[in-house]
Amino acid sequence: MANYKLYNGNCLDIIKEIPDNSIDLIVTDPPYFIDGMGDDWNDNTLNKKSKKAGVIGGLPVGMKFDPLQGRKLYNFMLPIVREYYRILKPGAFCIVFSQARLYHRLASALDDCGFELRDMLCWKYEGQAKAFSQDHFIKKRKDLTEKEKEDIIKSMEGRKTPQLKPQIEPMALAQKPKEGTFVDNWIKYKTGLMNANETLDGMFPGNVIEISKRERLQEEDFKIEHLTVKPVKLIEHLIKLYTIEGQTVLDSFCGSGSHGVAALKCNRNFIGIEIEKKYYDIALKRLKKTQP
Ligand SMILES: C[S@@+](CC[C@H](N)C(=O)[O-])C[C@H]1O[C@@H](n2cnc3c(N)ncnc32)[C@H](O)[C@@H]1O
Repeated sequence: MANYKLYNGNCLDIIKEIPDNSIDLIVTDPPYFIDGMGDDWNDNTLNKKSKKAGVIGGLPVGMKFDPLQGRKLYNFMLPIVREYYRILKPGAFCIVFSQARLYHRLASALDDCGFELRDMLCWKYEGQAKAFSQDHFIKKRKDLTEKEKEDIIKSMEGRKTPQLKPQIEPMALAQKPKEGTFVDNWIKYKTGLMNANETLDGMFPGNVIEISKRERLQEEDFKIEHLTVKPVKLIEHLIKLYTIEGQTVLDSFCGSGSHGVAALKCNRNFIGIEIEKKYYDIALKRLKKTQP
């Protein structure tokens, strides 16, 4: 039977206790470094802000632009990714979720730590339009006549803030360099190859994985109080693609524990780390329910 270990603390401290070359897969979903979901992720502030009709700090969710966001993400992830490299077995995969605007910084952190970037995977979901019209700003202007306002609004017909409906979430698929050939590495570590029989639609597995966000709501019999819950079905698919039964999966940003639930359902061992006690408790509850 698969086992799990769940830690409440900062992953950078806890991960240091994990032995070298001992983990078969990392699937993790770090803070996005947008909209207050950074290294100072504060659930209360974030919940209050996001409840204001999809607007954070006066801008649509995800649109608060700060040129330092990407660099902060890179600097935050770099020491953690160095640890990922140390604890993964040769040939093992590291899958890290990100968000379209800052993905490149995350991929660079993996690259700079010695990982081979194999692909960019996409979780495709139904999406919800978030772009805003600017008409109300024009109507409020005191320096324009009513006629001028009318003309500008007419000229901007259909124009909204530059945010296409988000329908994908990218994941970096990185691999720790293998020892020798694929076969040498497989014989020694049982890592480095993917399971091409793992399919969601009867077809050869692809790098675009379509799963409805609604799936996550149908999975539990209690409401999961976390803003960025991933569907268990999505994580199960990733785990089955890149590991075999009995291997160990790590999620260093485990939030409500979806990745752990997926690992246990697939008969893989799980190590999870979550800094916020509130989420740690939710994750523990879900893991216990999956594997009493
Ligand atoms: C994007 S969420 C993960 C959500 C998760 N995939 C799920 O399905 O519930 C990121 C999580 O990382 C946690 N976190 C942020 N910094 C951390 C750190 N240094 N160590 C451990 N966890 C951290 C946050 O509290 C948050 O719950």
